[in-house]
Formats: sequence, structure tokens, C-alpha cells
Amino acid sequence: MEKYYVSYNHIHRIMKELADQVKESGFEPDYIVAIGTGGFIPARMLKTNINRPILTVGIAYYDLNDNLMDRPNIIQWIDNADAKLKGKKILLVDEVDDSRATIGYCLETLLTHDPEEIAVVVVHNKEKEKRGAIPPEVKKYFAGETMNDKWICYPWDADDIEDHDRYC
Ligand code: G4P
Ligand code: MG
Repeated sequence: MEKYYVSYNHIHRIMKELADQVKESGFEPDYIVAIGTGGFIPARMLKTNINRPILTVGIAYYDLNDNLMDRPNIIQWIDNADAKLKGKKILLVDEVDDSRATIGYCLETLLTHDPEEIAVVVVHNKEKEKRGAIPPEVKKYFAGETMNDKWICYPWDADDIEDHDRYC
């Protein structure tokens, strides 16, 4: 599969643009929710311009033997989520909207806590057939870059970051 290398600086600029788009939309989140682990660094970059507490969640589709499971598995969720999220505005952040399975599952689970509104921010959205869906309650969706289906090489996965940056 074709590869697409992205640098930290490139992602930083995308997150700045996304923060501006969220602000221009009038959406003022109470919390940023980062989907681990790919959403952690983009969420922190976003916080520079949208200064809200970051909550983190973890969803796994693979078991300990790396076998794909048919149901996602919550490996980390938000403490006292009902009390914390009811009536609140949430900005959900992840690095890539690929099959949409993780994001769709996260959104459905977040909605069970009765938030006022949820908006989604992803660094990259791949235009492809999706396995998951954005629930109709979620009206705001911001993607930094929309692309065809290639493998994105993120800087945090690099063994040698100087070498990685040469491909960006
Ligand atoms: P989605 O809902 O965000 O579309 O996620 P999906 O379940 O389809 O993705 C499964 C895993 O594959 C996710 O990692 C996602 O980040 C990763 N992934 C999908 N496409 C790419 C890509 O082009 N490049 C890279 N580097 N990763 C990709 P995960 O299981 O959540 O793990 P983590 O890496 O976020 O910790
Ligand atoms: Mg991920």
C-alpha cells in the first residue's frame, strides 16, 4: 500500500487549523476526549488553542494474541462518566478515521452518558467504505486532511525520527 509520511510540524499546523474551524463553528467544548493512543498527541496540540481538560479512552479491536475481534473492547473509560458528561459538550479527537469502527463505537458509548453535544476532530479521514458510522446526533465533524486509502506513517511510530522526516 502507498505510504504517506507526516511530520510533527505538519500535524501541529493541521491541529491549529482544526482548532480555528471548531471555534468558527461556535462549538465550545467542556472536555476534549482523546482516543488512545493515536489521538493523544493531536489532542494535546489542540489544547494549545482550545484549552479544555483532556479525558482519555482506550478501545481495542485485537486480543492479546493480536487476533481481530468482532466486538470492540473498552480497555479504558472515563471515571464517573455519567456525572461528568451529562449535559456537557465533548470534542472527540483521534488521529485517523479509517474503518470508522473505533470512532463509531466511541461516539455511541459517549452518547449513553447524555452529553449536550459531541463534535469530532480527526487529523486524517480516509475516503473508503466504512464499517462504523457517525451517529446522527453528531452533527459536527472536522477532518484536517481527507485522502484516499493509503497507509499514513505518523511520527510517533518512527524508530528514527530524522529518517522519518526525510520522507515527509
Ligand atoms: P477508526 O475508527 O479510527 O477508523 O479506527 P479503526 O478501528 O479502523 O483503526 C484500527 C487501528 O488502525 C487504529 O489504531 C488506527 O489508529 C489504526 N490505523 C488505521 N489506519 C492507519 C494508518 O493509515 N496509519 C496508522 N499509523 N494507523 C492506522 P488503534 O488500534 O486505535 O491503535 P493506536 O495506534 O491508536 O494506539
Ligand atoms: Mg488510533
